[in-house]
Amino acid sequence: MCGIVGYVGAQAALDVVMAGLKRLEYRGYDSAGVAVPADGGLAAAKRAGKLVNLEKALVERPLPAGTTGIGHTRWATHGAPTDANAHPHLDNAGRVAVVHNGIIENFAVLRAELTERGHDLASETDTEVVAHLLAEEFSATADLAEAMRLVCRRLTGAFTLVAVHADDPDVVVGARRNSPLVVGVGEGEAFLASDVAAFIAHTRSAIELGQDQVVELRRDGVTVTGFDGRPAEVRSYHVDWDASAAEKGGYDYFMLKEIAEQPKAVADTLLGRIDAAGSLSLDEVRIGAGELREVDKVVIIACGTAFHAGLIAKYAIEHWTRIPCEVELASEFRYRDPILGHRTLVIAISQSGETMDTLMALRHAREQGSKVLAICNTNGSTIPRESDAALYTHAGPEVAVASTKAFLTQLVACYLVALYLAQVRGTKWGDEIGAVIRDLSRIAGAVERVLETMEPVRALARTLASKDTVLFLGRHVGYPVALEGALKLKELAYMHAEGFAAGELKHGPIALIEEDLPVVVVVPSPQARSVLHDKIVSNIQEIRARGARTIVIAEEGDEAVAPYADHLIRIPATPTLLQPVVATVPLQVFACELATARGNEVDQPRNLAKSVTVE
Ligand code: G6P
Repeated sequence: MCGIVGYVGAQAALDVVMAGLKRLEYRGYDSAGVAVPADGGLAAAKRAGKLVNLEKALVERPLPAGTTGIGHTRWATHGAPTDANAHPHLDNAGRVAVVHNGIIENFAVLRAELTERGHDLASETDTEVVAHLLAEEFSATADLAEAMRLVCRRLTGAFTLVAVHADDPDVVVGARRNSPLVVGVGEGEAFLASDVAAFIAHTRSAIELGQDQVVELRRDGVTVTGFDGRPAEVRSYHVDWDASAAEKGGYDYFMLKEIAEQPKAVADTLLGRIDAAGSLSLDEVRIGAGELREVDKVVIIACGTAFHAGLIAKYAIEHWTRIPCEVELASEFRYRDPILGHRTLVIAISQSGETMDTLMALRHAREQGSKVLAICNTNGSTIPRESDAALYTHAGPEVAVASTKAFLTQLVACYLVALYLAQVRGTKWGDEIGAVIRDLSRIAGAVERVLETMEPVRALARTLASKDTVLFLGRHVGYPVALEGALKLKELAYMHAEGFAAGELKHGPIALIEEDLPVVVVVPSPQARSVLHDKIVSNIQEIRARGARTIVIAEEGDEAVAPYADHLIRIPATPTLLQPVVATVPLQVFACELATARGNEVDQPRNLAKSVTVE
């Protein structure tokens, strides 16, 4: 949700900033802009629409060269996605430029004050006030970092701010409260960005910024203080993936690449977490065994696709540990006054680690005395940092807005946590846990096999491009898979898609079934829990009798469903609880192909952003 880049060094700043923005465009693509202090002044350009519009503008009217610069790609909150509302925002003298991610809640008051003092504000954004306030404070202090600290102390809300000033052209200053900002440290150069992907081509050495901190970037070093000016402690880390991981690598879309990477992502997430004796060793779970034995309730909080991972985790947690588990949309959680205590284990699932709804929910849980375990894909992000412990998924960078490989690895991480709880609490015998671990270690291969057989799914998707509605049905863990299949289709194909619990169909949704309506049904394994399987076979018959076109996802060897399937998609036989890892894959491919067939932008669906850092 808004991508920010800052650079100071010896290279042409505009090149570095534009390349960084390209890597961050997944965060928002309503407008883009850059500013470069050069030749004693400040040059800026901005354009509504995708980055390509700004690229064209820069070719038509090049900016003077400079070696310090900032850039922004926007997901609009305050004000329409116009040129005027695009960042950077400048003060009236055009000496200071600022870019922003987040929402400044008290901007109306500040705007009124500034107008009274004779400032002329040109946009509808909350951000512009910061440029004017910075200009005032810089006139008084001649120190951009100090000016930033003074301004930040007056702001409420969530913000990452990055600024440059024409009178101090070798400095970039950044500030952070509740929105992401990381520092990259190179040889004689330094970077600021919402995500390391923006500077990974230049350095893998990064610094995490904490809450309420201001960072000053110069060629020869980085200084971090609190908003109060006191030196701050920071954590440096090495980014363990390289630039190629954030490139399309020959695929047309990042989503296709990320779908293809799933077997590796799943295997990597298991790596190092099973010891030689076959037991789980989750060193990262820094919540003591004693405390885990005391847990009397698990609450999972997450948004979007991560929420669906949570819904699936509930089945595994309750089945293997017998601890009651609730799953809640993070955006709803704290507003219903949830019952939490020191014996509640809260699990926050987030790919980005920056989703504001999830962050606020986890803060609420910690304030109530609960321990929070984060399942996250992004090292150094806010959610794991503010949690009591973190279990990282090793999916690598996920760039496409619609989540795929992160989802599969979230499932694996959830299974690991559930098994670990079972191990610590003794609710499963060691050999039972070992058997599940063996099943888990085979699952990457099963995903690989699904990927090899996806051509008929793509062909089917293309034939449905003119449909308006697709329904998805599932039972047990297949129900959240149905929800995820529907979400993918909404996000990517902009089609009306809904997921239902198959048993619920007769209580209302069956009225939607009409001639040739495509209905995707996720069929549970026929081996275990055959009652479940039998029931869904009946559900398929019910909808087919009413004219639905049935698209059935069923295990190899499941012949009972075959007579009722207009289209049969086979997946390898997998134990019931683990089946979502394989059953989701055809639904991802289906949505991706339908989006392509409908001419939609697969990696950057309209109105969405990958990481949503506002509530
Ligand atoms: C956004 C994305 C979704 C994602 C959700 C949660 O809405 O478009 O794909 O599932 O945020 O993101 P998180 O980073 O917390 O997993």
